[in-house]
Amino acid sequence: MAIPEEIINEIKYRNDIETVMAPYVSLKRRGKNLVGLCPFHNEKTPSFTVYPENGSFYCFGCGVGGDVFSFVRQIENLDYIDAVKLLAERSGVTLPQDGYDDSMQKLKNTIYEINRETAKFYHTYLMSSAGKWALDYYIQRGLSLSTIKHFGLGAAPDSWDSLINHLKGKGYSIADMLQANVISKSQRGSYFDRFRKRIMFPIINIRGKVIGFSGRAMPGEDKMGGKYVNTADTPIYKKSENLFGMNFAKNHCDKQIILVEGNMDVISLHQAGFENTVAALGTSFTAEQAKLISRYTKEIILIMDSDAAGQKAARRASEILQSTGLEIRIVLLPDGKDPDEYIKKNGSARFKALLEGAVSEIEYRLLSAIEGIDISNDDGKLQYLGRAAQIIAESADIITRDLYIGRLCEKYGVSRTALTDKVNELRKHNQRRQEKRQFDEVIHPKFDRGDVNPDKRLYPAAAAAEETVIAILLQHPDFCETAIKQLKPDDMLTSTNRRIYKALCECISSGRSPDISYFGEGFNSEEVGYITYLANSEKGDKNALIVLKDSIKLILDEGVIKKSADTKDMSVDDWAENLKKIIDTKKKGK
Ligand code: UTP
Ligand code: MN
Repeated sequence: MAIPEEIINEIKYRNDIETVMAPYVSLKRRGKNLVGLCPFHNEKTPSFTVYPENGSFYCFGCGVGGDVFSFVRQIENLDYIDAVKLLAERSGVTLPQDGYDDSMQKLKNTIYEINRETAKFYHTYLMSSAGKWALDYYIQRGLSLSTIKHFGLGAAPDSWDSLINHLKGKGYSIADMLQANVISKSQRGSYFDRFRKRIMFPIINIRGKVIGFSGRAMPGEDKMGGKYVNTADTPIYKKSENLFGMNFAKNHCDKQIILVEGNMDVISLHQAGFENTVAALGTSFTAEQAKLISRYTKEIILIMDSDAAGQKAARRASEILQSTGLEIRIVLLPDGKDPDEYIKKNGSARFKALLEGAVSEIEYRLLSAIEGIDISNDDGKLQYLGRAAQIIAESADIITRDLYIGRLCEKYGVSRTALTDKVNELRKHNQRRQEKRQFDEVIHPKFDRGDVNPDKRLYPAAAAAEETVIAILLQHPDFCETAIKQLKPDDMLTSTNRRIYKALCECISSGRSPDISYFGEGFNSEEVGYITYLANSEKGDKNALIVLKDSIKLILDEGVIKKSADTKDMSVDDWAENLKKIIDTKKKGK
């Protein structure tokens, strides 16, 4: 399923990484490399590094890295093939029409069809007399028939096999139904409908295709499987990258997009005329979802409770939103209602007024910080002002700070110099803390903490040597044959490194050169970041061949020691034999 290497190379050659990055990152030259503020996380000092020499990048802050394909893939939120296509188009390279990625594309198409057929099945059932229980529920929740049609809502019958039988009748295989995640397999090996006796919300992407489902249990019947059952990630659906209602909202968002929590909130607000509403699909709001929104509009309104959970969610969302450049405003919803209940009780006009009164993130936090404090006495006021000063101190903009300092002084009758001094003192303190953290991050890159290669905690010495081997081979591919003779992939102790080394060996034996582009498929973005880091590290700078051999020896020795740790079930003789081996190994090592 791979695109021919020559074509990948040509696309890479024609898409100079600096030029491709230019619209997204502002880069400054530092020595032979370039640095800038990372577009993938929020930072104040640049740790995003571009290595023009081999066309790769790595962020020391968040661990993202890769080649020009990984960059486009992540910044534009595309899968590998689409990133390749985009860069091919950008540089006028024609891709071969067929012969690559065929099976995956076919599977995806089948899943789209199954989803469409399933949505139709649920909708037809809802509208039939057997589905009356569900239609009654929708109507009782205040949805009109035209809303039900607009969203393609449906219901899953109380049955274990009606969908399976329906799809079988249409000629779909069990394997494909499983891939689409509309059916499940029991422990005994039988298959059954994944959604039963639930009202069904199809999830529709911005191209108008059904990509998954969200099924809500009837009230009082959510013991089995929980209140909502959602489609798990499939080849065509990643919940972290989609938003419920975005297929409609994208056409109504010149001014802004409203983010709510629930599917029902989205439907109810659309019906009331707020067609710019979307919801995260049972996840907390993600960076990919933020990026999707920022492609269509310039402002986002978050609707939040004023309780602690709401504050935490607002905080998280606005952190995520910061790198997108979206304006953020927040609506405080009175007394724990959700937007659906609010609009039903108070009507569209009141809801519209709420939207117009949406406050900035800092105002929201200043308002919420009062929670739990009695500000009618001096102690309470001081406690509140302390919290407020911290909130203001976190704003990077001096005019914003000045504005809120002014407002608070007026409201609480304290002197402007006192509050300004307090804020500035907190700012200094925060800054020192931040500098220290950034310094720590550079000294201990992300994967040192074992995020990418969890086994590193078990075998730190072997893992370090493995990293050296991989780094040297990426920088000196001509040493690969020597290495492969002495070190088999299975000799590596930590699983991530073993997979990388295995891919590297396969790459060499197929006659390709092992550059970062080779790892575009089969490795996740964190792993590609890790590989890029190794490819650019200084491990292979001096005496590379000697260091390589020493590292291989260390890995093999550590392997013998590891085996001896797995000796619980050995006979006494085997155990003695083994011990002798270890002692020999250690002696030789000296
Ligand atoms: P809510 O519990 O607030 O449900 O969850 P709701 O959407 O307001 O539904 P009604 O009004 O009670 O009918 C908010 C969202 O969180 C996700 C769903 O996407 C839901 O819309 N969720 C909730 C789950 O994914 N699983 C759950 O078990 C619960
Ligand atoms: Mn609700």
